[in-house]
Amino acid sequence: MSDTGKGPDRVGDGTRAVRAGLPEPVKHEPTLPGPVFAAHFHLPGEVTGPYAYGRDDNPTWTLLERAIGELEAPGQDDVETLVFASGMAAISSVLFSQLRAGDAVVLPSDGYQALPLVRAQLEAYGIEVRTAPTGGDAQLEVLDGARLLWIESPSNPGLDVCDIRRLARAAHAQGALVAVDNTLATPLGQRPLELGADFSVASGTKQLTGHGDLLLGYVTGRDAEAMAAVRRWRKIVGAISGPMEAWLAHRSIATLQLRADRQNATALAVAEALRQRPEISGLRHPGLPGDPAHKVAAQQMRRYGCVVSFTLPTRARAERFLEALHLVEDATSFGGVRSTAERRGRWGGDPVPEGFIRMSVGAEDPEDLVADVLRALDESAD
Ligand SMILES: Cc1ncc(COP(=O)(O)O)c(C=O)c1O
Repeated sequence: MSDTGKGPDRVGDGTRAVRAGLPEPVKHEPTLPGPVFAAHFHLPGEVTGPYAYGRDDNPTWTLLERAIGELEAPGQDDVETLVFASGMAAISSVLFSQLRAGDAVVLPSDGYQALPLVRAQLEAYGIEVRTAPTGGDAQLEVLDGARLLWIESPSNPGLDVCDIRRLARAAHAQGALVAVDNTLATPLGQRPLELGADFSVASGTKQLTGHGDLLLGYVTGRDAEAMAAVRRWRKIVGAISGPMEAWLAHRSIATLQLRADRQNATALAVAEALRQRPEISGLRHPGLPGDPAHKVAAQQMRRYGCVVSFTLPTRARAERFLEALHLVEDATSFGGVRSTAERRGRWGGDPVPEGFIRMSVGAEDPEDLVADVLRALDESAD
């Protein structure tokens, strides 16, 4: 970053994204070195240096971790980032490395649908799990004596938002650690550590990498001791990213600002178009001025994400709508350059109505996408 001449915290997001994590230029070497495929590294004599065995460290991860750290916490050299095989590997590494039997943890009741599975496992290990919805900072009510507060803001799939700064302050006053799932916002949309969190945790499978072709997760944290425990957990469980995925992720981060700005602006245009339709209820997008979460979102987010949620009157109508779309694939996940949507109730894990749709807006031309959505709504009408 130094060659921009402005310091890492002064440059714009596009500049930061294209340069994130790049090594100092070396004559005849590529700008971004290729993936290092190695199970083990030459290691004569004493065990010294970072690279000894491929489950512990890899030079391709190092560059990616540096890149993510520069986006999550620009200019903060004391921050450490660790990459994982998936978002769930990253989430589990924080929860299971920081909590002990007898501890209490607060989880969102409306978070990502694998959290109830995590909850069951935490409880099996003797950890007390409390839940509260994301909206209205409801987690404040159940913080008393907790060891860790887990925030997912915006939440998936309901897109509620909580006041991260307020919750972090309250949690710290009680001695609790704070982790924020930053998947939906991406580090260009929200910087949880600046808002007071101890960990920013995310699935890099989504908009961070944005092409729907890899799984990845990461944890960024500033407490060296806590991060040492997270690193130890990665070593024990071996939930590591392959070097090819790590390299693809790093390559993709270069276009994060371009993708996010395009996709997020189109998501707002789609939401505005949906707002005019009488058959739509429960429309949510944190960037919509009338959204219940917009005021808090505007305080802490710099971009509002590419996901829009809404409900059609019945399951049958939602299924017909999805089938009628030409430019939007019926698929799960979100954040990719190709638009996707799904009837979330088909998984059975989210507390949502049968006609609830989560739509992830891609990089198609906005007018094409809006036209496709409106046409599919017309064609799927009873
Ligand atoms: C908010 C959120 N966190 C975590 C995850 C898990 O990420 P991964 O699928 O990369 O394990 C997801 C996946 O959809 C998610 O939406």
